[in-house]
Parts: sequence; structure tokens; C-alpha cells
Amino acid sequence: MLDANDLYRLIESRRDVRAFRPDAIPDEMLRRILSAAHHAPSVGFMQPWNFIVIRDPETKRRVTASCVEENARASAHYEGERAPLYRSLKLEGINEAPVNVCVTCDRTRGGPHVLGRNTIVDTDLYSTCCAVQNLWLAARAEGIGVGWVSILTTDALRRILDIPETVLPVAYLCLGYPREFFDTPELQRRGWAERVPLDAVILHERWGTTSGPR
Ligand SMILES: Cc1cc2nc3c(=O)[nH]c(=O)nc-3n(C[C@H](O)[C@H](O)[C@H](O)COP(=O)(O)O)c2cc1C
Repeated sequence: MLDANDLYRLIESRRDVRAFRPDAIPDEMLRRILSAAHHAPSVGFMQPWNFIVIRDPETKRRVTASCVEENARASAHYEGERAPLYRSLKLEGINEAPVNVCVTCDRTRGGPHVLGRNTIVDTDLYSTCCAVQNLWLAARAEGIGVGWVSILTTDALRRILDIPETVLPVAYLCLGYPREFFDTPELQRRGWAERVPLDAVILHERWGTTSGPR
């Protein structure tokens, strides 16, 4: 029988990981993690995802080059004490992680009339994000850290990974044994942001109502 408390503990202990040990992820374990991702819900059972598993150091180097370029552009947006703090943050572990996985969304899969996707076409993207979250949680259960790197351009990923125009790279993930699983998000530990209290994000009946414990 599933224990809900185990699941809640797993969810709360999932972290975005950017510092990895070099040890390889066993193939069977990686397959279990990808299978969990593949069991995500999807609009009309569209299963629009693919998982590009990357181990080649040269590919990682090219992705890192795009990340370095985009990170320089991003850092220009911060001023005052945020600027040096931003520059000191470690925001990717692409080369360190033994495995990178690019999760893509094929926007044409299932043809033009996927059940449930006629009105909100982006539901294929939402489905792909569900797969990413399944992957992230399954990896945590296996003791594997995952870091999502979004300081990358879609064009660079398309070029480096030969991804066609109809397919969107949704997530670029770094996977490996973590140097450490921290209790709190790195951005919280480093004083960048704090978790918003739950009651501040729960609304009752409609937008704009004041929230609070009931
Ligand atoms: C869509 C998405 C993109 C993200 N991109 C990055 C990134 O480029 N670099 C990074 O260091 N963390 C990235 N993160 C991780 C977040 O910073 C992290 O989830 C957040 O700070 C909360 O920490 P936690 O995941 O450890 O709970 C991303 C997370 C998501 C969901």
C-alpha cells in the first residue's frame, strides 16, 4: 500500500541540483526514471514527449557555450547587490552531470485534432511539463539529482541536437548523483528568494479574494 507521507516527504525533498559527482547512473535506473516520465498524464493521451539522452562531452560543451552566452545576457538585468549575487550563483551542471536529458514536445503528434486540445493548444506543453515533474520525483526517489537549465535558447538546442521545427525543446535537464541534497532550495539558502507562505497563494471562490486559514 502506498504511504501518502512517503510521497509528501519525497515531494518536499526534491531539489534542483547543480553540483554532481562523476559516478555513472546505472542504465536500468535511468530507464526506470524515464519510464516514470513516460507515465505522466497527457492531453488526449497524446504523449507528445521524447527524451534525448546525452552523454557525449562534446555535445555538453556546445550546450554549455550557449548557456554561458545567455547567462552573460541575463546577468546584465541585475543591479546593486543583486548583480554580484547573481554572478556567484551556480545555475547549471551540464558538464559535471554524467547524463543530460532534453525533454521535447512534438506539437504535431496525434494529428491536428487531439482529444481535449482543440481549445487550449498549449496543453501539449503542459503535458510535457508533467513528464518532467514525474522524472524529477522518480530521480529523487532513486537518489539522483536533477537540475533544470533554462538559460539556453531554443534555437541553440534545435541546432545542437538536430531537433526539427515542429518539436519544441521544453526542458534541458542535468542528471547525476548529487554532491548533496539540501533541505531548502539553493536560491533560498543564498538569500535570493523565499518560499511564499501557502496561504498567500490560496484564493477562495475567485481571484482577488483575501486568503487565509479557514
Ligand atoms: C522551468 C524551470 C526552469 C529552471 N531553470 C533553472 C536554471 O536555468 N538554472 C537553475 O539553476 N535553476 C533552474 N530552475 C530551478 C529553480 O531555480 C528551482 O526549482 C527553485 O529555485 C526551487 O528550488 P528547488 O527546485 O530545489 O525546490 C528551474 C526550474 C524550473 C521549474
